[in-house]
Amino acid sequence: MKIEQLDIGRGLILAPIAGVTGLPFRMISKQCGADLVYTEMISAAALIRSPGRSECYFMSRDDARPVAAQIFGADPDEMAHAAAFLSDEPVDLIDINMGCPVKKVVRSGAGAALLQDRSRALAIIRAVVRASRRPVTVKLRSGWDASDFCAVEMAQAAEAAGVSAVTLHPRTRAQVFRGRSDWGHIRQLKEAVTIPVIGNGDVRTPQDAKRMLCETGCDGVMIGRAALGNPWLFGRIRSFLMTGEEPPPTDPQTIGDTLIEHLRLEASIAGQGRAVLRMRKFAAWYSRGLHGAAAFRNRINGITGYPEFYEAVTDYFSMQTARFDATGTFHGRQQERAF
Ligand SMILES: Cc1cc2nc3c(=O)[nH]c(=O)nc-3n(C[C@H](O)[C@H](O)[C@H](O)COP(=O)(O)O)c2cc1C
Repeated sequence: MKIEQLDIGRGLILAPIAGVTGLPFRMISKQCGADLVYTEMISAAALIRSPGRSECYFMSRDDARPVAAQIFGADPDEMAHAAAFLSDEPVDLIDINMGCPVKKVVRSGAGAALLQDRSRALAIIRAVVRASRRPVTVKLRSGWDASDFCAVEMAQAAEAAGVSAVTLHPRTRAQVFRGRSDWGHIRQLKEAVTIPVIGNGDVRTPQDAKRMLCETGCDGVMIGRAALGNPWLFGRIRSFLMTGEEPPPTDPQTIGDTLIEHLRLEASIAGQGRAVLRMRKFAAWYSRGLHGAAAFRNRINGITGYPEFYEAVTDYFSMQTARFDATGTFHGRQQERAF
Protein backbone atom coordinates (compact mmCIF):
# COMPACT_ATOMS: atom_id res chain seq x y z
CA MET A 1 0.00 0.00 0.00
CA LYS A 2 1.17 3.54 -0.78
CA ILE A 3 -0.17 6.92 0.29
CA GLU A 4 1.28 9.29 -2.30
CA GLN A 5 5.03 8.42 -2.19
CA LEU A 6 4.88 6.92 1.30
CA ASP A 7 5.31 3.16 1.42
CA ILE A 8 2.84 1.58 3.86
CA GLY A 9 3.99 -2.01 3.26
CA ARG A 10 1.19 -4.52 3.66
CA GLY A 11 -1.14 -1.81 5.04
CA LEU A 12 -1.35 -3.01 8.67
CA ILE A 13 -2.08 0.08 10.71
CA LEU A 14 -2.29 0.96 14.40
CA ALA A 15 -5.42 3.07 15.03
CA PRO A 16 -5.37 6.36 16.91
CA ILE A 17 -6.47 5.70 20.50
CA ALA A 18 -6.64 8.56 23.00
CA GLY A 19 -4.54 7.87 26.09
CA VAL A 20 -2.89 4.83 24.47
CA THR A 21 -1.06 5.48 21.20
CA GLY A 22 1.71 7.61 22.66
CA LEU A 23 5.26 7.17 21.35
CA PRO A 24 6.10 4.07 23.49
CA PHE A 25 3.14 2.02 22.26
CA ARG A 26 3.71 3.21 18.70
CA MET A 27 7.33 2.02 18.92
CA ILE A 28 6.26 -1.35 20.31
CA SER A 29 3.60 -1.73 17.61
CA LYS A 30 6.11 -0.95 14.87
CA GLN A 31 8.53 -3.53 16.28
CA CYS A 32 5.70 -6.06 16.28
CA GLY A 33 4.85 -5.51 12.62
CA ALA A 34 2.63 -2.44 12.18
CA ASP A 35 3.35 -0.67 8.87
CA LEU A 36 1.94 2.71 9.94
CA VAL A 37 1.03 4.08 13.36
CA TYR A 38 -1.29 6.93 14.37
CA THR A 39 -0.90 9.38 17.22
CA GLU A 40 -3.91 9.89 19.44
CA MET A 41 -6.04 12.86 18.43
CA ILE A 42 -4.42 16.24 19.10
CA SER A 43 -6.50 19.37 19.65
CA ALA A 44 -5.60 21.90 16.95
CA ALA A 45 -6.56 24.77 19.27
CA ALA A 46 -4.36 23.48 22.10
CA LEU A 47 -1.49 22.78 19.72
CA ILE A 48 -1.31 26.28 18.32
CA ARG A 49 -1.88 27.86 21.75
CA SER A 50 0.87 25.87 23.40
CA PRO A 51 2.93 23.65 21.08
CA GLY A 52 5.31 22.61 23.85
CA ARG A 53 2.49 21.12 25.90
CA SER A 54 1.17 19.14 22.94
CA GLU A 55 4.58 17.82 21.97
CA CYS A 56 4.12 14.66 24.02
CA TYR A 57 1.40 13.65 21.53
CA PHE A 58 3.31 14.04 18.28
CA MET A 59 6.96 13.50 19.31
CA SER A 60 8.41 10.68 17.26
CA ARG A 61 11.50 8.63 16.49
CA ASP A 62 12.74 7.02 13.32
CA ASP A 63 11.83 3.56 14.57
CA ALA A 64 8.22 4.68 15.14
CA ARG A 65 7.67 5.87 11.56
CA PRO A 66 5.86 6.25 9.30
CA VAL A 67 3.48 8.04 11.63
CA ALA A 68 0.24 9.92 11.03
CA ALA A 69 -0.45 12.83 13.39
CA GLN A 70 -4.18 13.13 13.92
CA ILE A 71 -5.71 16.55 14.61
CA PHE A 72 -9.22 17.54 15.64
CA GLY A 73 -10.99 20.88 15.70
CA ALA A 74 -13.92 22.84 14.33
CA ASP A 75 -12.16 25.91 13.03
CA PRO A 76 -10.61 25.73 9.53
CA ASP A 77 -7.94 28.34 10.36
CA GLU A 78 -6.87 26.59 13.55
CA MET A 79 -6.77 23.25 11.77
CA ALA A 80 -4.69 24.78 8.96
CA HIS A 81 -2.26 26.30 11.48
CA ALA A 82 -1.92 22.99 13.26
CA ALA A 83 -1.25 21.18 9.96
CA ALA A 84 1.37 23.74 8.95
CA PHE A 85 3.04 23.43 12.35
CA LEU A 86 3.10 19.62 12.24
CA SER A 87 4.56 19.67 8.72
CA ASP A 88 7.84 20.83 10.33
CA GLU A 89 7.78 17.96 12.84
CA PRO A 90 8.87 14.35 12.27
CA VAL A 91 5.48 13.13 11.04
CA ASP A 92 4.62 11.61 7.67
CA LEU A 93 0.88 12.21 7.32
CA ILE A 94 -1.64 14.65 8.78
CA ASP A 95 -4.98 13.01 9.59
CA ILE A 96 -8.23 14.86 10.22
CA ASN A 97 -10.52 13.35 12.86
CA MET A 98 -14.10 13.26 11.60
CA GLY A 99 -15.41 10.46 13.75
CA CYS A 100 -14.83 11.10 17.44
CA PRO A 101 -18.21 10.53 19.16
CA VAL A 102 -17.22 11.94 22.59
CA LYS A 103 -19.75 14.55 23.78
CA LYS A 104 -17.20 17.22 24.67
CA VAL A 105 -15.60 17.01 21.22
CA VAL A 106 -18.91 16.85 19.33
CA ARG A 107 -20.35 19.78 21.28
CA SER A 108 -17.40 21.89 20.15
CA GLY A 109 -18.33 21.12 16.53
CA ALA A 110 -15.34 18.80 15.96
CA GLY A 111 -14.97 15.03 15.42
CA ALA A 112 -18.19 13.30 14.37
CA ALA A 113 -20.09 16.63 14.49
CA LEU A 114 -18.46 17.36 11.13
CA LEU A 115 -20.52 14.55 9.61
CA GLN A 116 -23.56 16.78 10.22
CA ASP A 117 -21.96 20.02 9.08
CA ARG A 118 -20.64 19.17 5.63
CA SER A 119 -19.76 22.71 4.58
CA ARG A 120 -17.59 23.17 7.68
CA ALA A 121 -16.06 19.73 7.11
CA LEU A 122 -15.16 20.65 3.56
CA ALA A 123 -13.77 24.04 4.62
CA ILE A 124 -11.53 22.25 7.14
CA ILE A 125 -10.35 19.70 4.60
CA ARG A 126 -9.53 22.39 2.02
CA ALA A 127 -7.71 24.56 4.59
CA VAL A 128 -5.66 21.64 5.91
CA VAL A 129 -4.73 20.38 2.43
CA ARG A 130 -3.63 23.90 1.47
CA ALA A 131 -1.54 24.42 4.62
CA SER A 132 0.00 20.96 4.98
CA ARG A 133 3.32 19.98 3.47
CA ARG A 134 2.51 16.33 4.19
CA PRO A 135 -0.17 14.18 2.55
CA VAL A 136 -3.53 14.63 4.29
CA THR A 137 -5.84 11.77 5.26
CA VAL A 138 -9.30 11.75 6.82
CA LYS A 139 -10.81 9.31 9.32
CA LEU A 140 -14.58 8.99 9.11
CA ARG A 141 -17.47 7.16 10.69
CA SER A 142 -20.36 5.96 8.47
CA GLY A 143 -22.59 8.89 9.41
CA TRP A 144 -24.34 10.59 12.29
CA ASP A 145 -27.04 7.95 12.78
CA ALA A 146 -28.70 5.09 10.90
CA SER A 147 -30.69 7.52 8.74
CA ASP A 148 -27.55 9.20 7.42
CA PHE A 149 -24.87 7.17 5.63
CA CYS A 150 -22.79 10.10 4.42
CA ALA A 151 -19.29 8.59 4.46
CA VAL A 152 -19.22 7.90 0.70
CA GLU A 153 -20.24 11.45 -0.18
CA MET A 154 -17.76 12.87 2.34
CA ALA A 155 -14.93 10.68 1.03
CA GLN A 156 -15.63 11.73 -2.56
CA ALA A 157 -15.62 15.40 -1.55
CA ALA A 158 -12.38 14.84 0.39
CA GLU A 159 -10.75 13.16 -2.61
CA ALA A 160 -11.79 16.05 -4.86
CA ALA A 161 -10.28 18.48 -2.32
CA GLY A 162 -6.88 16.74 -2.44
CA VAL A 163 -7.02 14.22 0.42
CA SER A 164 -4.63 11.31 -0.17
CA ALA A 165 -6.36 8.44 1.70
CA VAL A 166 -9.44 7.84 3.80
CA THR A 167 -10.17 5.56 6.75
CA LEU A 168 -13.67 4.35 7.56
CA HIS A 169 -14.82 3.02 10.93
CA PRO A 170 -18.24 1.88 9.75
CA ARG A 171 -20.34 2.67 12.79
CA THR A 172 -22.49 5.76 13.17
CA ARG A 173 -21.88 8.39 15.81
CA ALA A 174 -25.10 7.25 17.50
CA GLN A 175 -23.71 3.71 17.85
CA VAL A 176 -20.53 4.90 19.58
CA PHE A 177 -19.01 1.40 19.97
CA ARG A 178 -22.25 -0.60 20.17
CA GLY A 179 -23.35 -3.19 17.64
CA ARG A 180 -21.10 -4.43 14.89
CA SER A 181 -19.22 -2.35 12.37
CA ASP A 182 -20.78 -2.69 8.90
CA TRP A 183 -17.99 -3.68 6.54
CA GLY A 184 -20.43 -3.32 3.62
CA HIS A 185 -19.96 0.44 4.05
CA ILE A 186 -16.20 0.02 3.54
CA ARG A 187 -16.85 -1.86 0.30
CA GLN A 188 -19.21 0.86 -0.93
CA LEU A 189 -16.69 3.57 -0.11
CA LYS A 190 -13.85 1.68 -1.81
CA GLU A 191 -15.94 1.43 -4.98
CA ALA A 192 -16.65 5.17 -4.91
CA VAL A 193 -13.12 6.66 -4.68
CA THR A 194 -9.72 6.11 -6.28
CA ILE A 195 -7.53 7.09 -3.29
CA PRO A 196 -6.45 4.30 -0.89
CA VAL A 197 -9.10 3.18 1.61
CA ILE A 198 -8.25 1.93 5.08
CA GLY A 199 -10.84 -0.36 6.64
CA ASN A 200 -11.35 -0.30 10.40
CA GLY A 201 -13.64 -1.89 12.96
CA ASP A 202 -13.78 -5.15 14.89
CA VAL A 203 -10.66 -6.80 13.43
CA ARG A 204 -9.51 -9.11 16.23
CA THR A 205 -7.72 -11.98 14.51
CA PRO A 206 -5.58 -12.67 11.42
CA GLN A 207 -8.64 -14.29 9.86
CA ASP A 208 -10.70 -11.12 10.44
CA ALA A 209 -8.04 -9.02 8.72
CA LYS A 210 -7.96 -11.31 5.69
CA ARG A 211 -11.75 -11.36 5.54
CA MET A 212 -11.92 -7.55 5.68
CA LEU A 213 -9.37 -7.23 2.84
CA CYS A 214 -11.24 -9.81 0.72
CA GLU A 215 -14.80 -8.69 1.43
CA THR A 216 -14.27 -4.95 1.07
CA GLY A 217 -11.28 -4.61 -1.30
CA CYS A 218 -9.79 -2.07 1.13
CA ASP A 219 -6.08 -1.27 0.77
CA GLY A 220 -5.15 -1.33 4.45
CA VAL A 221 -6.52 -2.63 7.73
CA MET A 222 -6.52 -0.45 10.83
CA ILE A 223 -6.63 -2.09 14.25
CA GLY A 224 -7.42 -0.44 17.56
CA ARG A 225 -8.76 -2.33 20.55
CA ALA A 226 -7.47 -5.76 19.57
CA ALA A 227 -3.88 -4.46 19.59
CA LEU A 228 -4.10 -3.42 23.26
CA GLY A 229 -1.85 -5.84 25.12
CA ASN A 230 -1.50 -7.71 21.83
CA PRO A 231 0.72 -5.71 19.45
CA TRP A 232 1.93 -9.04 18.00
CA LEU A 233 -1.38 -9.17 16.14
CA PHE A 234 0.23 -7.11 13.35
CA GLY A 235 3.02 -9.66 12.77
CA ARG A 236 0.58 -12.55 13.11
CA ILE A 237 -1.66 -11.03 10.43
CA ARG A 238 1.31 -10.49 8.11
CA SER A 239 2.40 -14.09 8.53
CA PHE A 240 -1.17 -15.40 8.05
CA LEU A 241 -1.60 -13.35 4.86
CA MET A 242 1.70 -14.72 3.51
CA THR A 243 1.39 -18.38 4.50
CA GLY A 244 -2.30 -19.01 5.21
CA GLU A 245 -1.27 -20.55 8.52
CA GLU A 246 -1.99 -19.02 11.90
CA PRO A 247 1.20 -18.56 13.94
CA PRO A 248 1.26 -19.97 17.50
CA PRO A 249 0.12 -17.68 20.33
CA THR A 250 2.67 -15.29 21.78
CA ASP A 251 4.49 -16.96 24.68
CA PRO A 252 4.38 -15.42 28.18
CA GLN A 253 8.12 -14.69 28.21
CA THR A 254 7.80 -12.51 25.12
CA ILE A 255 4.76 -10.78 26.63
CA GLY A 256 6.65 -10.10 29.87
CA ASP A 257 9.78 -8.86 28.07
CA THR A 258 7.67 -6.52 25.94
CA LEU A 259 5.84 -5.17 28.98
CA ILE A 260 9.19 -4.39 30.63
CA GLU A 261 10.47 -2.71 27.47
CA HIS A 262 7.23 -0.71 27.25
CA LEU A 263 7.61 0.34 30.90
CA ARG A 264 11.21 1.46 30.31
CA LEU A 265 10.19 3.48 27.25
CA GLU A 266 7.40 5.18 29.17
CA ALA A 267 9.80 5.99 32.01
CA SER A 268 12.40 7.41 29.62
CA ILE A 269 9.79 9.74 28.10
CA ALA A 270 7.34 10.54 30.91
CA GLY A 271 9.49 9.88 34.00
CA GLN A 272 9.23 6.91 36.34
CA GLY A 273 6.30 8.11 38.46
CA ARG A 274 4.02 8.84 35.53
CA ALA A 275 5.16 5.71 33.75
CA VAL A 276 3.85 3.58 36.61
CA LEU A 277 0.43 5.22 36.49
CA ARG A 278 0.24 5.00 32.70
CA MET A 279 1.41 1.39 32.62
CA ARG A 280 -1.28 0.02 34.97
CA LYS A 281 -3.79 -0.30 32.17
CA PHE A 282 -1.21 -1.67 29.73
CA ALA A 283 -0.08 -4.28 32.28
CA ALA A 284 -3.70 -5.38 32.69
CA TRP A 285 -4.06 -5.72 28.91
CA TYR A 286 -0.78 -7.62 28.46
CA SER A 287 -1.72 -10.09 31.18
CA ARG A 288 -5.27 -10.67 29.93
CA GLY A 289 -6.08 -14.37 29.77
CA LEU A 290 -2.90 -15.46 31.56
CA HIS A 291 -2.91 -17.44 34.79
CA GLY A 292 -3.41 -15.28 37.91
CA ALA A 293 -4.07 -12.11 35.88
CA ALA A 294 -6.74 -10.76 38.27
CA ALA A 295 -4.42 -10.99 41.29
CA PHE A 296 -1.60 -9.40 39.25
CA ARG A 297 -3.89 -6.52 38.28
CA ASN A 298 -4.88 -5.97 41.91
CA ARG A 299 -1.24 -5.95 42.94
CA ILE A 300 -0.03 -3.45 40.36
CA ASN A 301 -2.99 -1.14 40.89
CA GLY A 302 -1.78 -0.58 44.45
CA ILE A 303 1.81 0.22 43.44
CA THR A 304 3.08 3.76 42.89
CA GLY A 305 6.87 3.23 42.95
CA TYR A 306 8.79 2.30 39.79
CA PRO A 307 11.08 -0.35 41.36
CA GLU A 308 8.09 -2.08 42.99
CA PHE A 309 6.15 -2.01 39.71
CA TYR A 310 9.14 -3.44 37.84
CA GLU A 311 9.52 -6.19 40.43
CA ALA A 312 5.81 -7.07 40.35
CA VAL A 313 5.97 -7.47 36.57
CA THR A 314 9.14 -9.58 36.57
CA ASP A 315 7.78 -11.76 39.43
CA TYR A 316 4.51 -12.34 37.65
CA PHE A 317 6.01 -13.22 34.29
CA SER A 318 8.75 -15.45 35.75
CA MET A 319 5.91 -17.39 37.37
CA GLN A 320 4.26 -17.66 33.93
CA THR A 321 7.40 -18.84 32.15
CA ALA A 322 8.08 -21.37 34.92
CA ARG A 323 4.90 -23.05 33.75
CA PHE A 324 6.63 -23.95 30.47
CA ASP A 325 9.24 -26.75 30.54
CA ALA A 326 12.36 -26.88 28.32
CA THR A 327 10.34 -28.29 25.41
CA GLY A 328 7.93 -25.37 25.59
CA THR A 329 5.10 -27.51 26.98
CA PHE A 330 2.78 -25.65 29.30
CA HIS A 331 2.10 -27.06 32.77
CA GLY A 332 -0.90 -25.64 34.52
CA ARG A 333 -4.09 -23.85 33.75
CA GLN A 334 -4.07 -21.59 30.76
CA GLN A 335 -7.03 -19.59 29.65
CA GLU A 336 -7.64 -18.51 26.12
CA ARG A 337 -6.39 -14.97 25.57
CA ALA A 338 -9.63 -13.25 24.67
CA PHE A 339 -8.96 -10.35 22.33
C1 LIG B 1 -10.46 4.41 24.12
C2 LIG B 1 -10.53 4.76 22.67
C3 LIG B 1 -9.96 5.94 22.23
C4 LIG B 1 -10.02 6.28 20.87
N1 LIG B 1 -9.40 7.43 20.45
C5 LIG B 1 -9.47 7.77 19.12
C6 LIG B 1 -8.81 8.94 18.64
O1 LIG B 1 -8.11 9.65 19.36
N2 LIG B 1 -8.97 9.23 17.31
C7 LIG B 1 -9.70 8.44 16.45
O2 LIG B 1 -9.82 8.75 15.26
N3 LIG B 1 -10.29 7.32 16.89
C8 LIG B 1 -10.19 6.96 18.19
N4 LIG B 1 -10.76 5.80 18.61
C9 LIG B 1 -11.40 4.92 17.63
C10 LIG B 1 -10.40 3.89 17.06
O3 LIG B 1 -9.37 4.54 16.36
C11 LIG B 1 -11.12 2.89 16.11
O4 LIG B 1 -11.68 3.63 15.06
C12 LIG B 1 -12.21 2.11 16.81
O5 LIG B 1 -11.79 1.64 18.08
C13 LIG B 1 -12.64 0.91 15.94
O6 LIG B 1 -11.56 0.06 15.68
P1 LIG B 1 -11.31 -1.31 16.52
O7 LIG B 1 -12.58 -2.12 16.44
O8 LIG B 1 -10.15 -1.96 15.83
O9 LIG B 1 -11.02 -0.91 17.93
C14 LIG B 1 -10.69 5.43 19.95
C15 LIG B 1 -11.24 4.24 20.42
C16 LIG B 1 -11.17 3.89 21.74
C17 LIG B 1 -11.75 2.57 22.19
